[in-house]
Amino acid sequence: MFKAEPFINEKIKAVEDQVGNGKAIIAVSGGVDSMVCAALASKALGNNLLAIFVNTGLMRKNEPDEVKGMLTEIGMNFKIVDAQKEFFDALKGVTDPEMKRKIIGEKFIRVFEREAKGFGAKYLVQGTIAPDCIESGCDGKKLIKSHHNVGGLPEKMDMELVEPLKDLFKEEVRMVARKLNVKSSERQPFPGPALAVRCLGEVTPENIALVREACFIVEDEVKKAVDAGKMKMPWQYFAIVLPIRSVGVRNDDRIYGKTAVIRIVESTDAVTATHTDVPADVLNTISKRITLEMEGINRVAYDITDKPPATIEWE
Ligand code: XMP
Repeated sequence: MFKAEPFINEKIKAVEDQVGNGKAIIAVSGGVDSMVCAALASKALGNNLLAIFVNTGLMRKNEPDEVKGMLTEIGMNFKIVDAQKEFFDALKGVTDPEMKRKIIGEKFIRVFEREAKGFGAKYLVQGTIAPDCIESGCDGKKLIKSHHNVGGLPEKMDMELVEPLKDLFKEEVRMVARKLNVKSSERQPFPGPALAVRCLGEVTPENIALVREACFIVEDEVKKAVDAGKMKMPWQYFAIVLPIRSVGVRNDDRIYGKTAVIRIVESTDAVTATHTDVPADVLNTISKRITLEMEGINRVAYDITDKPPATIEWE
């Protein structure tokens, strides 16, 4: 059975041994994997570790401010890099899911390399966990999708990787998070390529704004339903926006809008998942809010597919 405390001690020592007196950087997204990894590595490296939060423009509502607050609270050495334009420029015209993932992974690394040079870092600490590696085709396994922590890495990288969480599954990461008092321990997982893989079709600032708002509404209503005792907190709950349009009617006028899909799933390790049996009134409230509050969306669907055959994210 997994025990958090011996794991933490063992990994602090392993990071110390690997990095020695060298300097390292870590990319933090605010998610449990990267924050646990940062908290753990900072115990080993102190001020020789710099945490970097890249504002890609693809994050959820209020996320950049929340992450800044968490980093300030941890008391780590950190820097916020505004790279929104760079990411949107690189993604212009791209609709293929694997291309999006590769481009975002590559951009991330290039931004880090730039920041690392200024800091003198030779090491890149990453919160890669076991399912990322399993599905990214490591160790001869078949590629399902390139998780940006793994498959998105360019072949020629100037930094040595430090991955203390790579043998852990999500629940184990959460156990470590609780032990380290990391605030994001109960946050739902969020993909490295962020809202880009929930925005089917082209990733533009306008399309991302739609997905961001739809995800916010789903999160808000699920939390309300959990607080009201209508359902348990699911593993993941979010929205996807599709580029296809359908006909609808608003204020007696014909509209031709986009579709939002609600995705709410149960899982223990993200390798398999089942769709959640959400009360109909909760789904209906989400649908009403999305279509009333969001101009471009006139249809909402609920995804009842399990994994496999579907994956949790749509891309
Ligand atoms: P899929 O969509 O493959 O997702 O069923 C499994 C879990 O991983 C999350 N996910 C990612 N996490 N980098 C990550 O760190 C990624 O590139 C990535 N893509 C998907 C997804 O949200 C789910 O929890």
